[in-house]
Amino acid sequence: MKLLATDLDNTLTGDRAAYHRLVVLLSAHHDVSIAYVTGRDKIQTFEIMDAECLCEPDYTLCNVGTEIYVGPDYRRDDAWTRHIDHHWDRFAVQEALATIPYLFQQSRQFEFKQSYHLFHKADIVIPEIHERLDEIGVAHKVIYSSGTDLDVIPAKAGKGEAVDYVRKRLRIRRKNVLAAGDSGNDVGLLSAGFLAVVVGNHKAELNADALPEDVYWARESYAGGIIEGTQHFGFLKPADVV
Ligand code: GLC
Ligand code: MG
Repeated sequence: MKLLATDLDNTLTGDRAAYHRLVVLLSAHHDVSIAYVTGRDKIQTFEIMDAECLCEPDYTLCNVGTEIYVGPDYRRDDAWTRHIDHHWDRFAVQEALATIPYLFQQSRQFEFKQSYHLFHKADIVIPEIHERLDEIGVAHKVIYSSGTDLDVIPAKAGKGEAVDYVRKRLRIRRKNVLAAGDSGNDVGLLSAGFLAVVVGNHKAELNADALPEDVYWARESYAGGIIEGTQHFGFLKPADVV
């Protein structure tokens, strides 16, 4: 058993022909489970799955690894919710960060993901966020993507952590997981000790300094980059040949 854990926007999506090539490739490998790992919420995830005609995944990890849905009926994994709910108080986060200049609340907020837009002065604003939340004892993580989106989530949550939880459920080794991403909110996923591929169209914030040395930097973009990653790592070869 293996797991392909892929971001959606601009990783799995972006090049429909390449996505179809990937689907054909995976259809010959029934031992590979699929996890979608996205910053989107559940409804937005369904929207992009519809719009891009994406296949049903085995696991759907939404809101930057703060929510895990299992199987074709998208059952929420409540054990994961309980696990991440540790020294977390979304209202305390909102109140503590309300007066920080340059930080604007996004219109949709979630129990375990408080999101903002931040376009300027990230080098000053991010340390200020940590300082204020440490002061009130909120165990948190700040994830900054694309020079625009800033998410505050519980310390125990994140794309990498959520995929690792699914990996343990499947009882497979880290090197039987291939992670794929393109932007800042994929750093945790690409740094969690899985096989990892960065697609060719990645954002500038994903650079050699931000990621471990053994990450594979694909030349191909979007799903073409994921295919290149599977080839680079021999991910789809039978286990005894790898
Ligand atoms: C998605 C979410 C947004 C989040 C961003 C980065 O665009 O909709 O809330 O800030 O991903 O994780
Ligand atoms: Mg993306």
